[in-house]
Amino acid sequence: MTGMDEKRHWAEQYPWLGTAPLPTEPYVSEKYFALERERVFRRCWLNVGRIEDIPEAGDYFVREIDICGASVLVIRGTDGIVRGFHNVCSHRHYRLVPDGRGCRRTLRCPFHNWTYDSEGTLVHVPDEHKFHDFDKRNHGLTPVHTDTWEGFIFVHLGDNPAANLREYLGGVADRLDGCPFHEMKLFQSYRVEEQANWKVMLDAQNELYHLPGQHRWTLGSAFAKNSSTGSRFREFTPYGHHNSWSGEYGLSQKLTPLKIVLFLNNDDTPEFPIDHQSGDMEHFNLFPNMVLTLYRVGRSSSCITYNLWPVAVDRTIWEIRFYFREASSVRERLQQEYFKCLIRETLQEDSAAHEEVHAGVASRAKQHILLSDDEAPIRHFRKVLEHHIALR
Ligand code: FES
Ligand SMILES: [Fe+2]
Repeated sequence: MTGMDEKRHWAEQYPWLGTAPLPTEPYVSEKYFALERERVFRRCWLNVGRIEDIPEAGDYFVREIDICGASVLVIRGTDGIVRGFHNVCSHRHYRLVPDGRGCRRTLRCPFHNWTYDSEGTLVHVPDEHKFHDFDKRNHGLTPVHTDTWEGFIFVHLGDNPAANLREYLGGVADRLDGCPFHEMKLFQSYRVEEQANWKVMLDAQNELYHLPGQHRWTLGSAFAKNSSTGSRFREFTPYGHHNSWSGEYGLSQKLTPLKIVLFLNNDDTPEFPIDHQSGDMEHFNLFPNMVLTLYRVGRSSSCITYNLWPVAVDRTIWEIRFYFREASSVRERLQQEYFKCLIRETLQEDSAAHEEVHAGVASRAKQHILLSDDEAPIRHFRKVLEHHIALR
């Protein structure tokens, strides 16, 4: 939907989202955080990486899911299959693999040397004959439900997921199926730990309203404006648990010689359009804690993902990954580098804002936040969250 930016049309289009102020208690309540652990993070598919992170047999990484107290080992077996396991030895439950990543054909527990293969089978137990009624074939690593969609690896910590991954992703996957993520390479990734509730952080990534303020020196003038000062929301679509929205770049930027190199769609870089993209920047929220954004960069497209990993009610790790297609010209490489630096600086501004907002909310000076119509994705996220929290 375009050209309706003067109206409060998201409330008209999606009246079930409501218009009332939202309570702040879920941002600061330990009780609510405990419910999020049990009813959200233990019950939803969670993106933990990409298949390119573990291309060869024996390649693995460990993902700490702090809110659930879980450590998950994701490993590619000699049969090529990507599997997830609880990173816990079957003997006396020592953490099998320390943090990080690597490549191993066998995994040996540091405590008493029980050894597993890359498919999670227990293959060696010192003094095996001294165990009672023991068949090591019954004591492999405990699997975690693991599946992939378009190269993104997801795990589910519950016993019986209510939906398989593809069903869970639903309309977002319908939109993005076939998107050439496999042609993009991880360009940079980093993690930052913030003193903020994970929802405060997610909220701030779900509106363009703050661009002319918080990002006035970075992105403030990059996006198209509505008739006042706000950045125009081009499209907002709820997809069940998930949603997408998009923005468009403004045409009014002053084009310096450098910006002409950096922004214009010159013919010396091949096109890499993503057909699935609506607007110049499209933002997909994959409930609960993943954001996937597609940006146009020159004639190409890039993908940035965010994963928000709650550690405590007031502490969250923000993991950010930049993906670009391999540059085919100096101009394209320059565009990518500039874009990466620009976004990185912008996200540092966001980190500062997240902590400021969290401190304000935690002061309990006020009990509600107020949302404009163009902050509708925040309302949608909160509706979905409340739905999950209410399910016993
Ligand atoms: S706890 Fe792993 S071998 Fe004993
Ligand atoms: Fe921002």
